[in-house]
Amino acid sequence: MARIRVGVIGLGIGRHHIAGYQSHPDAEVVAIADLDEARLKEIGDQYAVANRYTSVEEMLAEEPLDVVSVATPNKFHMPLTVAALEAGCHVLCEKPMALSAAEARQMLAAAERADRRLMINFSYRFNEQSQALKERVDAGELGEIYFGRTVWHRRRGLPRFGGWFGQKAMSGGGPLIDLGVHRLDLALWLMGYPKPVWVMGGAYNPIASALASAQGVEYDVEDLAVAMIRFENGAMLEVEASWAANVQERELMETRLLGTKGGLVQRNLNEGYDFEAELYLERAGAHYDMKLHAPPRSRTNAMQHFVDSIVKDVPHTATGEEGLLVMEILDAIYESAGTGEPVYIE
Ligand SMILES: NC(=O)c1ccc[n+]([C@@H]2O[C@H](COP(=O)([O-])OP(=O)(O)OC[C@H]3O[C@@H](n4cnc5c(N)ncnc54)[C@H](O)[C@@H]3O)[C@@H](O)[C@H]2O)c1
Repeated sequence: MARIRVGVIGLGIGRHHIAGYQSHPDAEVVAIADLDEARLKEIGDQYAVANRYTSVEEMLAEEPLDVVSVATPNKFHMPLTVAALEAGCHVLCEKPMALSAAEARQMLAAAERADRRLMINFSYRFNEQSQALKERVDAGELGEIYFGRTVWHRRRGLPRFGGWFGQKAMSGGGPLIDLGVHRLDLALWLMGYPKPVWVMGGAYNPIASALASAQGVEYDVEDLAVAMIRFENGAMLEVEASWAANVQERELMETRLLGTKGGLVQRNLNEGYDFEAELYLERAGAHYDMKLHAPPRSRTNAMQHFVDSIVKDVPHTATGEEGLLVMEILDAIYESAGTGEPVYIE
């Protein structure tokens, strides 16, 4: 069988996409694109990718690609994803899906028109702890999940301060759309993606805006956002995300879900990027905790999963539809933060 021909656009985190595809025997990264020529050369040399483009349009016109990864700043997710779909490629787009739900809808429509796949890189679904928890939840161990709290806080962790992450026109928002999007997806995925009815949100930027004026850099997004989401099934989920907050931890990620039969937590260890997962259950009238220890390192990354799904012709996870639902919630949180009123989601 011919190997899946992949192109990767944007070579910051995009370099991990290259590595992810290169770890799949049925995929081959044949082309990369980035506006930054130095980066293009450095990453092209490092991963031995011969065909390099500073123009995505040129890459799509010249390379017969099957799959394209879009890993540029958020503003370009929609136009580049649509261009790649129209060129006949399946697309794995970085999170957040787009700047807004309206853009996300355009991407889904393009995927439908082209009859191609669209996956969003909700990468935290792919760690072992998340996968193990999903299995237990799907086996019914939690019963009905009716409350959750999902957070990602940083004491001071403003990504490349003064750059595109802090500019709303480029990023669509601050830590909520950047970090909160991962924790929100993780909670929703474990909860079975219930349909949201309304949200009540707040967004603040006292710490970052003071830093920005002291340093004379552009910054017009929140540094902390919080929200409560109500779902059609009656469940509620609280979301919190910050790049700068007066908390103890340098980096704190935690998702808790409470169900009628059990509860769970997935959180990071030692303020880093390793995780632990626990279940809190009742068995034979006793409280019973289950902890996932040293899970096997058999994990599939998002790139391997996407290629596998295409090769085996089976559905992939982290769909464009789920990405759209997340964008609808994010739009509503930002709107609610602006008006101070709850926002209903159609
Ligand atoms: N899944 C994750 O955990 C994760 C982690 C980090 C970043 N991300 C996401 O990945 C995306 C990129 O983030 P980053 O940290 O790599 O940013 P970055 O600024 O380091 O890299 C983006 C790259 O895209 C290139 N680029 C910009 N516009 C382009 C265009 N029109 N055509 C071709 N190349 C273009 C830039 O030159 C740059 O090299 C963002 O959407 C971010 O949210 C996801």
